[in-house]
Amino acid sequence: MIPPPAPPPDGDPVRHHYAEVSYPGGAFSRTHPARQAAIARLFGLVPPPVRGARVLEIGCAQGNNLLPLAARFPEARFVGVDFSAHEIARGRALAADAGLDNIEFVCADLRTYDPGPDSVDYLIAHGFLSWVPDDVKSALFALCARALSPRGLAYISYNTYPGWKQREALRELMLLRAGPATDPAARIASAHAALASLERLLDGRPESHAGLNREIIASLRKKRPEHLYHDDLEGVNDPCYFLQFTAWAAEHGLAYLAEAEWETMFAELLPATARSALAEFSHDRLLLEQHLDYLRNRTFRASLLHRAGTRLHRDPDPAALRDCVFGTPLHPPLGLPSLAPGAPVRFGAGSPLAFESQDPLVKALFTVLSAAWPRRLAYPELHASVRRLLAASRVDAPADLDSPLLSRLLDACGRRLVDFLIDSGLDCASSPTSPHAARLARLMAARDLPVVNTWHEMIPLEAPARALLATLDGAREHFDATERPLLDTLAASALLEPHRASAASVSSTPTA
Ligand SMILES: C[S@@+](CC[C@H](N)C(=O)[O-])C[C@H]1O[C@@H](n2cnc3c(N)ncnc32)[C@H](O)[C@@H]1O
Repeated sequence: MIPPPAPPPDGDPVRHHYAEVSYPGGAFSRTHPARQAAIARLFGLVPPPVRGARVLEIGCAQGNNLLPLAARFPEARFVGVDFSAHEIARGRALAADAGLDNIEFVCADLRTYDPGPDSVDYLIAHGFLSWVPDDVKSALFALCARALSPRGLAYISYNTYPGWKQREALRELMLLRAGPATDPAARIASAHAALASLERLLDGRPESHAGLNREIIASLRKKRPEHLYHDDLEGVNDPCYFLQFTAWAAEHGLAYLAEAEWETMFAELLPATARSALAEFSHDRLLLEQHLDYLRNRTFRASLLHRAGTRLHRDPDPAALRDCVFGTPLHPPLGLPSLAPGAPVRFGAGSPLAFESQDPLVKALFTVLSAAWPRRLAYPELHASVRRLLAASRVDAPADLDSPLLSRLLDACGRRLVDFLIDSGLDCASSPTSPHAARLARLMAARDLPVVNTWHEMIPLEAPARALLATLDGAREHFDATERPLLDTLAASALLEPHRASAASVSSTPTA
């Protein structure tokens, strides 16, 4: 059904297509080594400290994911590899302009890339595996096997079956309609025409496949043309089953640890009928995960691998959370909520994650964390604040607050109500007093690149907020009435630094 891809002008069609149309890469919070490390700790694996780690990203494009990490951790070393000379040149230029000397961009084909003698503590390959041919896939697993340090972690994301089956059918229709056209704009236009035809064909049809196709069409239409071109119209697009992925990893001496999207792992949070249907797979964690993919019709995974042979806990150990920092934007209604047992309080009004609790400890936990937002709190500070709040509210706290608090935290992290990372000394300003933003953030704002906050989250900004961010070099003291609310937004998004950095690092305002 799929027409043959365009002939490769330089011998490699994938490389040719990335040279032809630049891929607008992003930053992905799940790839943050401190998030990976927090998950690993829960299973008893203690990865190297992030602050001095060696981080390697494969298929890094222009470095939009790696550069903000390098800026946050000056003592760590970062290497980005991509075979697109154009993207690598852009990454190098941005690193130089931002004054980063702990990041190196290497223009190489993964099939021949040599990482050198140093081991890698965190290896990231986001948006890569499903879009490369089998020999490159093997090279990725072989690199992990060769370069990962004994307690190192590899993050690899990929498209999965069964969810991708129907998407594949739409992709094949788009390829059919694009035919032998090689011009990117023509291929993108044909793809949209194919989606429009299919939508008309399905118009008003009540069947379940029609509904699913309409959903996929809507998601494809939302994509930027460059993303559609590479994600959906490339010659190679190769989703796999979870068990296929873990089998490839095992062939290279690598074992599955967990999902970087931690909240997708908890079968115990499913309805009782689904839980009992999954019970027959409880002896085999991988088979259970595979069945969860059928339950969710899953299309995507971001899996963490480690070297096989390390003995780990089967179940997450809440005690590991003592080394983490926590944050949540799910606020109670204005004012101090009642912490009394049995009094219901709703947190996160207006958010899809909103929930209600009557549990004094849960209420105290969310009251403390949301008051600190967008800062994250380290466990000792959180523990002390929760105890103080309970005492001030005259609610009895258990003498041993530690274990009930840790188990509430584990549950909240598993439901994505609370974000957690290994404590690696990061912090942000909670209010816009003497506002200044990191030099890289200012540069990326000025150049219309993805803007990433302290916690490695991409923050969508309107043009005025972006323009203001680009000017926050720490020297500005006066802001007009239109800028003040924008400053509040930037502070609430964790885009402002906690303290004025040294004059040398803030004195110059970057230009686009
Ligand atoms: C889909 S893009 C993903 C970019 C980025 N990781 C992201 O998710 O935003 C895939 C990247 O992998 C690079 N790539 C593909 N095959 C490669 C290979 N064999 N060796 C090195 N880089 C490769 C491409 O140049 C491209 O920048």
